[in-house]
Amino acid sequence: MSEVISKIPVQDTRLFYKRWNNYENLNNLLITEIEKERGNNPGGMISTNPGCWRSMFKYKCEKELMKPIGMIMSAYMDHYFPKKPMDANITYWTNVNETGSNNIFHSHYRADADISGVYYVQGANTGLIRFATHEQMYRMIPNHMPHANMIAHQPSDGDILCFPSYLLHDVDINRSNRQRITIAFNAKIKFKEESNVINMPDRSKKDESLEK
Ligand SMILES: [Fe+2]
Repeated sequence: MSEVISKIPVQDTRLFYKRWNNYENLNNLLITEIEKERGNNPGGMISTNPGCWRSMFKYKCEKELMKPIGMIMSAYMDHYFPKKPMDANITYWTNVNETGSNNIFHSHYRADADISGVYYVQGANTGLIRFATHEQMYRMIPNHMPHANMIAHQPSDGDILCFPSYLLHDVDINRSNRQRITIAFNAKIKFKEESNVINMPDRSKKDESLEK
């Protein structure tokens, strides 16, 4: 009889990824609005990444944009919190990265976010996105051991990814002659209270229906 060995995951960080089915229509809508906004506001927001135009403008087609974001967020929630009612407060911003620009390693945990993600309006050939744990980042795991290597994703147009906001990630140099256009998002989860308790009416206020 073989011994049963417990194998306990200390941490299980997962990336959620999907290509949005209807991405061509959505991306046409988004690009039209991005070009218009960039024309009106060529400076954009101050960005820490040279060669990156950034804006938090609100899309007229926001309802369409929220479909892939909602889909990937629901998959994440169903995985970790099945059947738990909750709301999510989502903020998003647009990045246009020119040829030669990159995004250095960072995480989104300081943004008071729980889940972060990215939707690729133009992603193909514009540079890998890499994800790293602290141990991978600082090469603390010997190459022959499990989890020594970072995970990288070569994006395509219409890809959507989401991950916990604490997860470190960077984006390689855009070596194509195409702009990398992404919409990044942060989400703060708020669990809805589940209660089987009904509060007593406030007797300090006169309510005649209570006297009958
Ligand atoms: Fe990021």
